[in-house]
Formats: sequence, C-alpha cells, structure tokens
Amino acid sequence: VRPIGVAVLGMGNVGAEVVRIITENAGDLRSRVGAPVEIRGVAVRDLNRPRKIGQDLLTDDPAALVARDDVDIVVELMGGIDPARALIRSALESGKSVVTANKALLAEYTGELATAAADAKVDLYFEAAVAGAIPVVRPLMQSLAGDTVERVAGIVNGTTNFILSAMDETGADYADTLAEAGRLGYAEADPTADVEGYDAAAKAAILASIAFHTRVTAADVHREGISSVTSADLVAAKKFDCTIKLLSICERVRDEHGGQRISARVYPALIPLTHPLATVNGAFNAVVVEAENAGRLMFYGQGAGGSPTASAVLGDMVMAARNRVHGGRGPLESTYASLPIAPIDDV
Ligand code: HSE
Repeated sequence: VRPIGVAVLGMGNVGAEVVRIITENAGDLRSRVGAPVEIRGVAVRDLNRPRKIGQDLLTDDPAALVARDDVDIVVELMGGIDPARALIRSALESGKSVVTANKALLAEYTGELATAAADAKVDLYFEAAVAGAIPVVRPLMQSLAGDTVERVAGIVNGTTNFILSAMDETGADYADTLAEAGRLGYAEADPTADVEGYDAAAKAAILASIAFHTRVTAADVHREGISSVTSADLVAAKKFDCTIKLLSICERVRDEHGGQRISARVYPALIPLTHPLATVNGAFNAVVVEAENAGRLMFYGQGAGGSPTASAVLGDMVMAARNRVHGGRGPLESTYASLPIAPIDDV
C-alpha cells in the first residue's frame, strides 16, 4: 500500500504534539487509515533550536516541503495570515489535502480556501481552529447538516475564561490576575488577542459561517474584550446570582417579513449561575448549539494546549488520509447563502 505523506508546518506546542503522536501511534494510525502515515518533513522558523525530532526531517523552507510529490496532506500550524495563506493555497491547488488550526486565517479567508479545495476536489479540515479538542466544527458541518441552527453561544477563549474565573474566585483585580495568568502560562507575553476578544471574534466568525452556511468574517463580529471588567463587577454579578463570562454569540435573526440576518458578537456577558455556561471555569471552553430539530446541545472540554489541540488536528488528518486511501471527500461548502449581518443595535 502506498503510504500517506504528511508535511507539518510549524512546530510550536501543537506541532510538537502532532509529530509525537504520529510517531508513537504509527501502528494504530496505519490500521485506522488503511495505509502507513509518514511524516515527510516539519517546517520550522529556526533550524538551530533543539527539538525532539530527527534533524533530517526539519526544514526552514515550507514552500519546498509543500511542493514535494510524496506529500499528500499538509498540516498547517504556523498561525497568522502570511505565509500560511499562500502555502495552503498552493497545497490545495496542487491536489493536496489541508488540515489547519489557523483561526485568524480562516476568519478572513474560509471562502477563498473552501473554493480552492472544492476546485481541486481535496479536503480542507479545521476542527482545531475553534475550541481545541472539543468537536464542534464537525458536528456543525456534518451531524447538523440537515437541521437549522438558530444559535451557537459559548466560551471559546481559555485565557479570558481563566482570568474571569480566577477574579471571581479570589476577588483579585484584573491586572493582578492577568499577570498571574502570564506566570502560569495561560496568557501570552502579548495578551491583546485574547483579552481584547480578537481570538474569540475569529472563532465566532468561523462558527457563524459553518452554522449558518454563510460567510462571516472577523470584521463582521461586534467585539468587546475583558480588560475593563473589574472585581467589583464580579461582586455585583454575584449579588444577582450571576457571573461574567466572555461569550461568543452567533445567532440567526429573523424579521417579521421572513428575512434573515446573522448576528455575531463577543462581549463579557452577565449569565445566571444556573446556566450551564456559568459552571465552565478555568481554561475550559464550552459551546451550546441550539437547532430547530435537535434542540439544545452542549460541547465541553479543553479548548487550548498542545495535546488537546493536537487531538483535533489528528482527527482531521486521519479523515483526510482515509479519504486519500479509500476515495471520497469531507463536507465543504464552496457555495453558500449570503446572509446580511445584523447591526448590534438590532439584536
Ligand atoms: N489563546 C487561545 C485561548 C488558544 O486562550 O483559548 C486557543 O485557541
């Protein structure tokens, strides 16, 4: 049987776990896929940094790695728009399947990349881009493909949930809690993307696009972060049996004439302690989906971190590899309804 060749772009926390699991679980992966899965190379920025991987697999030329004839699947874990966008496009256009966790890229270019994948008749999968290990992209795209989703609401940023949970628990103020989150490795050196809601807004754009079969970009998402939430706000919330969570809410908004629009918004919301999302603490994520026929569904688990995110990446990789071996292609919408965005004042 011809092996499936995999190129990994990026070797941060997630990339390193992906490489480790592919190497350690080679036997299981082979039987699940129906062919051996072999890493052809791992593209890194700095070749001199010590890594737990044979030097012969490392390269600092991702474009050459992607172009290799013996690469069937490109796993993109570099993040950011450039050069990830061009590398993914060139992979898709040369008939390779792509697995990516790149929420910032998808929040802008899902339409472009889905069209390139559809034209080339290959897979483009991105379960790991939203809520790490939690299966939410595939349920929306596959399990609920015959239903009408009305609302997707959840906690999709672990850093801010960690900070708000800790402020609630300890009574400490925002600045001290952010500093502590940084010391514990939950917040990055530059926490802006997390605390100002950009990360959650990118994920909301992806969720809204797949839930409502339309295209929503990060710029369409109304966004407020948590940097102005104070410990006094949390104390006040408690008095009303509520807490504060940074929620990403995507809704189908219907008007009395049968018209439909989409609202996507991220903001620190007051939620009753009896609501299931109020019990999601620490760096955990949770997403509640409401669909016309399925009713309410809730997804909960680890939304970040090397191993949990690698789990989602590998699920996608196995699906793409199976399709290369057995034929077939995963769900992908290159044609979609274009629903207008509802202004924030209308919802
Ligand atoms: N910074 C993100 C978070 C990582 O805190 O959830 C996962 O996308």
